[in-house]
Amino acid sequence: MHFQWYPGHMTKAKRMMQENIKLVDLVVELVDARIPLSSRNPDIDELGKNKARVVLLNKADLAEECWNEAWIKWFEEQGFLAVKVNSKKGSGMKAIQSVIGEACKEKIERDRRRGILNRPVRAMVVGIPNVGKSTFINALAGKACAKTGNKPGVTKGKQWIRLNKQVELLDTPGILWPKFEDQKVGLKLAFIGSIKDEILNTEELACEFIQYMKQEYGGVLNEKYHTDESDDSYQILMGIARSRHCLVRGNELDTEKAAALLLDDFRNGRLGRITLEKCLNKDS
Ligand code: G4P
Repeated sequence: MHFQWYPGHMTKAKRMMQENIKLVDLVVELVDARIPLSSRNPDIDELGKNKARVVLLNKADLAEECWNEAWIKWFEEQGFLAVKVNSKKGSGMKAIQSVIGEACKEKIERDRRRGILNRPVRAMVVGIPNVGKSTFINALAGKACAKTGNKPGVTKGKQWIRLNKQVELLDTPGILWPKFEDQKVGLKLAFIGSIKDEILNTEELACEFIQYMKQEYGGVLNEKYHTDESDDSYQILMGIARSRHCLVRGNELDTEKAAALLLDDFRNGRLGRITLEKCLNKDS
């Protein structure tokens, strides 16, 4: 399976982010807990250098808890403060506020030594499309704070959300695209739905996913769809079509529909919590 995907507005978004990043002290990097590495953009290290950084493992509700913990540890070993969150439910938001405070401690202290008091630290949320940036900002803003700055539509000024006395968040996230020259990275991004399905062969993608599930989460598909995992991937896909009554022209199996259904079940957590990318430092 080969991935090529060049959205037209990519360059514009990157330029906007480069402009905005100059305005902030702290970068809040959102990654997908199911694929914490493949959902990053390596440019962020360059773009965000000299800035404090917090990594958020978003959609933690969809990934296995033990791997979430392992990834948090891994990011901490790389020198970042890291927190797992479920932005959809709004859980983890309290922890984030304190981690942001922690990440900015040095900056606040530096300001204080220079006699600058009460200047809020400014932060910006960044991440690849669909990782949950808007949901996260809404969850955090909804909980904590009032908007500051200019009214939308009145001026072109930036919108800042005051999280507390010390921290303000830019309400426009920075969008970066994932790098998927590596086909394995592309495949994982496609599994989670970060590459539009219209440009992919859904059946092929579903078969790759079935292969992964057989290896890493044996039994899950059998239980959910009453298939037989000793079959090959396409036969299993046909089994899913059969058990879910995906039919065309009377009684012909509609494997395309079954493929879409399977991927949708996975993406919405209906196959249980699944981590597609596992780190090496896990204890057990
Ligand atoms: P973006 O700004 O980074 O592009 O992402 P956005 O917030 O639009 O979120 C993309 C999708 O991910 C949304 O689903 C959103 O609900 C979902 N999402 C965000 N954070 C979480 C999380 O922590 N857990 C789970 N399970 N889902 C999350 P959607 O299907 O596009 O919209 P909706 O049907 O949920 O409204």
